Amino acid sequence: MQQAADWIDLTGKVAHVTGGAKGIGRGISRALAMAGAKVMVSDVNLDGAKATAEDIDGAAMFLDVSDRVAVDEAMAHTLSTLGRLDILVNNAGVYQEFGGPVRDITDDMWRTLWSVNVDGVFYCCRAAADVMIKQGNGGRIINVSSTQAVTPGVGVTYDGSKAAVAQMTKALALELAAYNINVNALAPGPTWVNEGAPPATNGAPPPPTGNPLGDTVADRIARLPKGHWGDPMEQGKAVVFLASSMSDFVTGIYLPVDGGWLTL
Ligand SMILES: NC(=O)c1ccc[n+]([C@@H]2O[C@H](COP(=O)([O-])OP(=O)(O)OC[C@H]3O[C@@H](n4cnc5c(N)ncnc54)[C@H](O)[C@@H]3O)[C@@H](O)[C@H]2O)c1
Repeated sequence: MQQAADWIDLTGKVAHVTGGAKGIGRGISRALAMAGAKVMVSDVNLDGAKATAEDIDGAAMFLDVSDRVAVDEAMAHTLSTLGRLDILVNNAGVYQEFGGPVRDITDDMWRTLWSVNVDGVFYCCRAAADVMIKQGNGGRIINVSSTQAVTPGVGVTYDGSKAAVAQMTKALALELAAYNINVNALAPGPTWVNEGAPPATNGAPPPPTGNPLGDTVADRIARLPKGHWGDPMEQGKAVVFLASSMSDFVTGIYLPVDGGWLTL
């Protein structure tokens, strides 16, 4: 008899995770490998990608997702080295150094962020869809959006880019369902990706600074219902759900994995 554990078994599947050198991308790569998938870890930080891959017996490559020619080559390279492509996780994204008040956003900041967070997701989806359709066995595409797509806080650049990713996900889900390719968005809430232990939450919000962007985020983190920052592996577990047979009938959703952020 089939066991429920079989539903999350990704043995024989090949995944490509962008931005897998650290943070959430590393957690996602680890979780997919723990479920049995062979993972191609790509990143602009090749050393970091190699470190992730070594840890999970996967493969690593340099990829800047904002370079459309390189993206096409990367999906072809995944196919030629690992034999197939079943799962794409569009995780690569930039935020911290590109947020802030609108009057401080330069044209370069705007273009750079959108070229990675939006153009990059589009290029990777297009290239992977082409491979998956030709392969003829369906597939899974998981786009990493953010709770900021719904509740702004980082700034017009980032918040807009993540809303775009959420809506691109729905459009692609509608289009690619005919090929049995499920397309879903993961929306992480605050997930600790830096060195050391995360700061405490569940305290009094810090005094307002007058910057509505930063204050909104700080207030939500302080009042996060689950009472602690998320861990990259918590995002990885949700990706395994979206990549596996557990979610065969799930497509076009925006899945918050956020410790209750969106209840606030
Ligand atoms: N950490 C959070 O709280 C949080 C919350 C919501 C959404 N997210 C999203 O999750 C994803 C991962 O975030 P993170 O917190 O792990 O960030 P991170 O900065 O720790 O890691 C991002 C990775 O992406 C890589 N990268 C950056 N630009 C790239 C490019 N052009 N091509 C390929 N790789 C590139 C970086 O080198 C890095 O390894 C992002 O899309 C981010 O917007 C994060």
